Amino acid sequence: MTRTDARPHPGGLADLAGRRVARVGYGAMQLRWAGTDDEPVGVLRRAVELGVDHLDTAEFYGDGVVNRRIRAALAPYDEHLVVVTKVGATPDPGGEHALRLAQKPEELRAQVEDNLRSLGAERLDVVNLRRADVEPGLVAAGDQVVPFDDQLATMTALRDEGKIGAIGLSHVSAEQLRHALGVGVVCVQNAYSLVDRGSEPVLDVCREQGIAWMPYFPLGGGWPGQRQVTDLPAVVEVAGRLGVTPAQVALAWLLAHARETMLIPGTRSVAHLEQNLAAGDVELDAAAMAALEG
Ligand SMILES: NC(=O)c1ccc[n+]([C@@H]2O[C@H](COP(=O)([O-])OP(=O)(O)OC[C@H]3O[C@@H](n4cnc5c(N)ncnc54)[C@H](OP(=O)(O)O)[C@@H]3O)[C@@H](O)[C@H]2O)c1
Repeated sequence: MTRTDARPHPGGLADLAGRRVARVGYGAMQLRWAGTDDEPVGVLRRAVELGVDHLDTAEFYGDGVVNRRIRAALAPYDEHLVVVTKVGATPDPGGEHALRLAQKPEELRAQVEDNLRSLGAERLDVVNLRRADVEPGLVAAGDQVVPFDDQLATMTALRDEGKIGAIGLSHVSAEQLRHALGVGVVCVQNAYSLVDRGSEPVLDVCREQGIAWMPYFPLGGGWPGQRQVTDLPAVVEVAGRLGVTPAQVALAWLLAHARETMLIPGTRSVAHLEQNLAAGDVELDAAAMAALEG
């Protein structure tokens, strides 16, 4: 598939759900923390201006606030923009975690409707089914332990009904991904970065099957106490030698490590956004790759 528009494509182009999009996109979760809509709208519009054409979001990022901010900034949506959202949890304002798991088939359906409403969309381009079998994040217990096949059947029905364009998976094992291949999985979103390579076997399946790999927490995450890739001595050393920032080195490594990688770094800062998109131009030489892989 080709793209004929003249916009920039940070990181080059790759396929996502039958569309050709830039490999460096944007994860919108951090926008939940902004006090007003001005800052998020500015970040989102700058992202699109610089060529971002895939975004990651969820209704449960701040009780729909991130979706509403995306809508305020970007609707009516450009035909090239792919908005990736997720189901598996739902907002729980005032609750201990501000969200709760919602893994049952009827809950997945309700979340698709919620996302359609808050994004102001007639169809969700891509929806990730977010499992909750293991940490990080809440772990399913009681009636939230739902058979994977029941969920896949619901996702497939939602796609058949035209509510969602394509199905992705999040927080799955390599075995779960293999099990689900028959439904047509277009992307996988697991925690993965230079500080957490535990999902390497899942990436291997994506490589083998040509499925888009969208690591979440690509910089180590934004929650207090999370280990940051920018603290790794090898990252800092390579950044100094190449004259780029540590965050750019960590993102460039993800792009170089697997061509299936598509990035969704999160930020509330236009300056960081610009840096992250420019990471698509950072070339890591063999010595840098060896230092980072080591
Ligand atoms: N599927 C899932 O279960 C799941 C879970 C979590 C997240 N996600 C998605 O993945 C996306 C990325 O994850 P994340 O946002 O949690 O973590 P992240 O992208 O690894 O890191 C975000 C943190 O890094 C900082 N940062 C960003 N760019 C930077 C730069 N150039 N230099 C220095 N610091 C920088 C941000 O602060 P500033 O705002 O100050 O830049 C923020 O604190 C999310 O936005 C969300 O869309 C999915």
